Amino acid sequence: FFCSVLLICFFILLSASAQEVVQGFIGGSAVLPFHPGNRTLTNITAHWRYEDRKNVYDILNGQGMTKEQDPEYKGRTETFPAEYSKVNFSLKLGNLQKSDEGSYCCFIPEFVLNECINLQIKGVMKWLL
Ligand SMILES: *[C@@H]1O[C@H](CO)[C@@H](O)[C@H](O)[C@H]1NC(C)=O
Ligand SMILES: *[C@@H]1O[C@H](CO)[C@@H](O)[C@H](O)[C@H]1NC(C)=O
Ligand SMILES: *[C@@H]1O[C@H](CO)[C@@H](O)[C@H](O)[C@H]1NC(C)=O
Repeated sequence: FFCSVLLICFFILLSASAQEVVQGFIGGSAVLPFHPGNRTLTNITAHWRYEDRKNVYDILNGQGMTKEQDPEYKGRTETFPAEYSKVNFSLKLGNLQKSDEGSYCCFIPEFVLNECINLQIKGVMKWLL
């Protein structure tokens, strides 16, 4: 029995490392973490994309940009400029909708690094109703 529990834990760990999962609630907000270690970047540039298609957020030369952002994300995104220098490009997405579910990838050209976070949306928070 103990052995099978260990095995299950092992598989949970494996799948978690394959793609990090973040849960959010409809109408709530979620922070998609992105902090690929304490490496140093000379050019603070990163791109957040939804399902490799939609532009969610751009960070260009150390500045957050929403000009090219898909209208779907207008006014709902936030990053943390104070964290950029620590190569922490975590993205906060507010007013979550069921349609926000899916894979969000952050690409750092300088590291040729692309990491994805899976966002899952649950129903409304019952205790708030
Ligand atoms: C990164 O972290 C390691 C271990 O925590 C530390 O030894 C190293 O000095 C750090 N590097 C930088 C550039 O901060
Ligand atoms: C940083 O990278 C971006 C995108 O690759 C590029 O447009 C920009 O000119 C670069 N900035 C510097 C200072 O190298
Ligand atoms: C990255 O920044 C966010 C927002 O400030 C913070 O919640 C998170 O803990 C930071 N992650 C790391 C690894 O520092």
